[in-house]
Amino acid sequence: MAKSKWTEFTQNAVGTEQLKSAGSEFKSGWKAPSNIAIVKYWGKKDGQIPQNPSLSFSLNGCYTQTQLEVKYSPKGFSLTINPEGKEFAPRIEQFLRNVEPLFPFLANVEAKVTTVNSFPHSVGIASSASGFASLALCLCHIEEQIKGNLGFGSPFLRKASYVARLGSGSASRSVFGGWQEWGYLPELPNSTNEYALSLSPIVDPKFFEMRDAILVVSSSPKVLSSTQGHVLMANHPFADARYAEARINLNAILKALRKGDLKRFFDIAESEAMTLHGLIMSSKNQPILLKPQSLQIIELIKAFRTEKGINIGFTIDAGPNIHLLYTSDVAPIVEAFVNEQLKPLCENQKVIFDSCGKGPELV
Ligand code: PMV
Repeated sequence: MAKSKWTEFTQNAVGTEQLKSAGSEFKSGWKAPSNIAIVKYWGKKDGQIPQNPSLSFSLNGCYTQTQLEVKYSPKGFSLTINPEGKEFAPRIEQFLRNVEPLFPFLANVEAKVTTVNSFPHSVGIASSASGFASLALCLCHIEEQIKGNLGFGSPFLRKASYVARLGSGSASRSVFGGWQEWGYLPELPNSTNEYALSLSPIVDPKFFEMRDAILVVSSSPKVLSSTQGHVLMANHPFADARYAEARINLNAILKALRKGDLKRFFDIAESEAMTLHGLIMSSKNQPILLKPQSLQIIELIKAFRTEKGINIGFTIDAGPNIHLLYTSDVAPIVEAFVNEQLKPLCENQKVIFDSCGKGPELV
């Protein structure tokens, strides 16, 4: 097991004196994407350490844009957040207090966070992943500005991923575009529980053409938060088998991504999605998160795939909405199918058409 990198990231940490001598006031703004997990992270240990490794791709149109301003204050730490970000205020404040050992200058600043999501609330797209990734990038960027460094190479992204993970596990993956992996897997060099890795160099180009039609069956607030979900795994009778299976699936999907094997990829993606819901349903006293329309959509996707003989598939997060996955070469027929047959099953006919994205951007 890889040992904690906390010391690696606290070395040369920037304190109040450095902030004051470098100019007292700094700001940074980043757009960071949401991501959709294909191999699911479900279950964690203390310190936001995953029980199993996970794999995802970053979205393009679903992102959070965050600006962080810090100004030296002798009165200690204080925080203001824009009205749109108010819903996340307690988590953001807790996070900024937790990461003070990494960014000691936070002890004496007035911090101002302005954060806006590109996607509507409660459509089952993880805003915590894009939100914490964008905030982590801002923090690391301000640290670099104080130190007088420029450039966003691998060490910068590694630290940003590490910091994002402390806010929300899946946020560690949103620091990278394309495809990412987070969590220790013996067979994957450099994989660690501490931060995510970009898989983009080893992935067949066809996987960068991945599209995601997010079929919004319900936009009601989440019945089960991911925080509650991870806790359920602590006493789950199938936990050990699940963690072992996730590793097997991750190794298999890495092979499929390398070889460009879409069929195998979709088989594993669907099995992971159904396993996640199977785990939730077999936890004690838990609701069924899938709705009748979710199941109808799944059946229609399977029938359409058989009828047309094309490689498409789906994944599902911890909610009722279905993510239909397909590559751009089959987009015209798949999107016609979505509009004709699946849209009527969605709440207010809501479908978000997104795709694999290039990753965070400085704004
Ligand atoms: O990062 P969290 O704590 O919000 O958990 C994410 C859980 C899933 O979205 C269900 C799976 C994943 O790997 O993103």
